[in-house]
Amino acid sequence: MKTLGPNLLKGLSFRARTTILSSRSSSQESTGNKLNALRFDGQTAIVTGAGRGLGREYALLLASRGANVLVNDFGGTRSGQPLDQAGTQETHCAEQVATEIVAAGGKALANNESVSSEEGARKMVESALNQFGRVDILINNAGILRDKSFANMSVSDWDEVCLVHLRGSFLVSKACWDLMRRQQYGRIVMTSSTSGLYGNFGQANYAAAKMGLIGLSNTLAIEGTKSGIQCNVVVPMADSRLTRDILPEALAARLKPSYVAPLVGWLAHKSCSESGGVFEAAGRWFGRYRLQRSGGKYMPALLDESGSVEQLASNWSEITSFDERALPVESFQEHIGELLSKL
Ligand code: NAI
Repeated sequence: MKTLGPNLLKGLSFRARTTILSSRSSSQESTGNKLNALRFDGQTAIVTGAGRGLGREYALLLASRGANVLVNDFGGTRSGQPLDQAGTQETHCAEQVATEIVAAGGKALANNESVSSEEGARKMVESALNQFGRVDILINNAGILRDKSFANMSVSDWDEVCLVHLRGSFLVSKACWDLMRRQQYGRIVMTSSTSGLYGNFGQANYAAAKMGLIGLSNTLAIEGTKSGIQCNVVVPMADSRLTRDILPEALAARLKPSYVAPLVGWLAHKSCSESGGVFEAAGRWFGRYRLQRSGGKYMPALLDESGSVEQLASNWSEITSFDERALPVESFQEHIGELLSKL
């Protein structure tokens, strides 16, 4: 974990500065109480890994706005191992959050299945259906870390991280998919990370899984369109068990998990029309990512030339330049359309 510090902190201190600046220029923000409340009455949400950290905040927010919430958490260690002492408070974190919701007048059900088990994912969705009658929202949030440099990373470090993040999100989404299609409605939120978007020392497993989730979400967004299912990705940054020994205290205090929850609440709401998006939330700062392709260069004679590699190399700066010809690319159709116009 120590190896991660300097890399992550570099990005974080920049983000923290941005957050401080944006929180000072809040004059244009609309306040929630001037707006119509966005509620989830009659809807059911499954939030995975909701026994602590970000997932807990998502569960509390959705429940406080009327959703029935299945609070899933298998209650293990940060690296995904079962806790040594079964029966500790940590093991029962899902129950604690569900109890908290019910005590506040909400509706919740605790669930301890692991997202990475096919049977567990199926049982989780069945429990939500049996208890609440439907599933409208799925927040794929459960996560673990097994940080090692690539040189030291074992196959099981790779597998376990991919199992929880990528396979787990696939399995629970898959278990919800048919019922969401039948009801012609669904909201799915995946959880990615800046480690996936940019890479991060010691996180080859985590970065690969987190970037894989963007591909999964992009495709579910396309396939879900005709069934009223929308899928988006959040890229959070927050003080939690996962990041506790990485973030400096002063910064951690500005990165409360609760600050991320409104983004998930909005993406989960029926009035939000976003799908296939990637959105970031960190300490009350919110933004969106997009892909961009350079203007490139059409080189029709390249393969006829004996010096094709040399020609490519000598045109490299034009090929890769993000000059005024570089455009954002929103979809595969756009990508292909633009390519065809060049060829
Ligand atoms: P956290 O460690 O506080 O919460 C994650 C929860 O997931 C834990 O309660 C854990 O028991 C549960 N979990 C782990 N494996 C599970 C499994 N197989 N089945 C069911 N539950 C399982 O971590 P945090 O920070 O709240 O993370 C939530 C998500 O956000 C994760 O996917 C993480 O990768 C992602 N994330 C967090 C960032 C941050 O700054 N905190 C940054 C980028 C991404």
